[in-house]
Amino acid sequence: MLLDEIEKQYLDTTSIEHRKKYAQFFTPPLIADLMVKWLLGNKDLKQILEPAFGLGIFSRMLLKKRNNIRIKGFEVDKNIYNKSRSLFGKNKNISIQLKDYMYNDWKNKYDGIICNPPYFKFHDYDNKNILNEIEKNILCKLNGFTNLYSLFLLKSIYQLNKNGRAAYIIPSEFLNSDYGKLVKSYLVKNGSLRHVIIINFKENVFDDVLTTASILLFANDHKTDAVQFSNISSLSDLSNIEKIINTYPKNVQTNQTIKFKQLNPEIKWRAYYQEQNSIKFKHLVPFAKYGKVVRGIATGANEYFIFNLSKAKQYNIPKKYLIPCICRATDVKNLFFGENDIDELINKNKNVFLIDAVNSNNKNVERYLSIGEKREINKKYLTASRNPWYSLEKRLPAPIWVSVFNRNGLRFIRNEAKILNLTTFHCLYLNIISESIADLFFSYLLTDISKEIFDDNSREYGNGLQKFEPNDINKSKMIDLSMIDERTEKNILKIYKLYRQSVIDKKPEEKFVKEINKIFLEKFTETNFEKSKKILVQKIQSQTFFFEPNQQIKLSF
Ligand SMILES: C[S@@+](CC[C@H](N)C(=O)[O-])C[C@H]1O[C@@H](n2cnc3c(N)ncnc32)[C@H](O)[C@@H]1O
Repeated sequence: MLLDEIEKQYLDTTSIEHRKKYAQFFTPPLIADLMVKWLLGNKDLKQILEPAFGLGIFSRMLLKKRNNIRIKGFEVDKNIYNKSRSLFGKNKNISIQLKDYMYNDWKNKYDGIICNPPYFKFHDYDNKNILNEIEKNILCKLNGFTNLYSLFLLKSIYQLNKNGRAAYIIPSEFLNSDYGKLVKSYLVKNGSLRHVIIINFKENVFDDVLTTASILLFANDHKTDAVQFSNISSLSDLSNIEKIINTYPKNVQTNQTIKFKQLNPEIKWRAYYQEQNSIKFKHLVPFAKYGKVVRGIATGANEYFIFNLSKAKQYNIPKKYLIPCICRATDVKNLFFGENDIDELINKNKNVFLIDAVNSNNKNVERYLSIGEKREINKKYLTASRNPWYSLEKRLPAPIWVSVFNRNGLRFIRNEAKILNLTTFHCLYLNIISESIADLFFSYLLTDISKEIFDDNSREYGNGLQKFEPNDINKSKMIDLSMIDERTEKNILKIYKLYRQSVIDKKPEEKFVKEINKIFLEKFTETNFEKSKKILVQKIQSQTFFFEPNQQIKLSF
């Protein structure tokens, strides 16, 4: 989406490394304009805060529309701060401070707060101290994995004056992730959230950030007791946001308006804004009935721990210290991965070994360990917490691998070679029930119906990319395989074997998977779909989750 000239110029003259270091992704003017309009809806708008200033797109727009306001901005990057200072010249309405927003200004309250906060993962910033800062001031405890953008948001809500308005644009991931539960609990308890607008354009809203964005609008008034969820999927839909803003506090009544006492922080809020595929099917059970997904092995320093044959030769590492392991998803081409496949990768000198140096008394291995210490591999985030630093995470080979990022639904791979895998795949382990019907279970995982049901629990990334964390799958639903009679099972297994053979022969016949899918569809499609949809909406709208006023939310690390 088009950026303003000022931001474009900055992008052209600043290195990607610098921008990444400070999480500098800029808000497109079309979006900024709508967020500014929400703030202007507060007729008493005087004191405004822009917590992650950048080049001040929001302030530039606000000052064009009002001249009786005062804006305070925070920015931590001296480079962009200097540029902004010269941009705003001697404008008396604005003061920009070269300070970290999270540690400053807790005492002040504002009539308007507008922000596109930095997106850092929890281990890319000083999360312990910032979490303490939030807990101390807001009196709530948070999950240690909380992303920095949510912490910006919590602080800003706390700093809203009576009748104050806030507009934030952030990735929608927190609405559907585990750490987000505690943030959502706070939003529900606080009661000033008015609109959640999910932007899911075919193209990325932000230059090179891979996430779907959402605009959150807050009003610290008592004019409504409900939150409205809206979806925006194209530029032409943006005018809907303007309608939303103009009609406030009236809501356009839709199924997507949910009262605070019905909003459940424990569930993925996607249930409130996206039709769930699973309601099209019947006889569903928790996925956990059949298996458990955990993430693959994280080494903490792949380039050090991973080997191919030439590297093994170079350092003279004996084979017994090298464990076969899939390190890159692109090395696995087919849905059945057998011993021939791993041999082929080894012979092609691919990186498919991990060094396992624990209990080794081999001189060459020891030499390699001292090289690691010289390179300070032992002081990295993950290795530093292990004893010894070069020990590997313990995992049994998983019978099924699960792809982490997907464009066309989840991909499951049968690991017939029984080898380990890095985080490039998740590991799916079977239990007593699924072990005895492993082929039937895997047949189901191959089908579109399984993908459709899993989709309900994916995390959106922009550009049609989906991500699944292990728990997204563990908490999904799947069809109840015990509903399948013996004859049908035999039929499915017959087709499955034909499919497997066609893949192994490198001539995959997708018609077999379609046939299996059809069998499942016949058995599990909800015939009275409209009725079940109605029941679901009623269920969501009648569930009640009460928070006592001023109750301290019990949240844990
Ligand atoms: C995502 S950019 C948004 C910039 C601008 N407001 C916009 O919307 O185009 C976030 C900005 O916040 C700054 N920043 C990062 N961490 C910060 C912090 N702890 N306190 C204040 N600013 C911070 C970054 O340098 C960057 O300029």
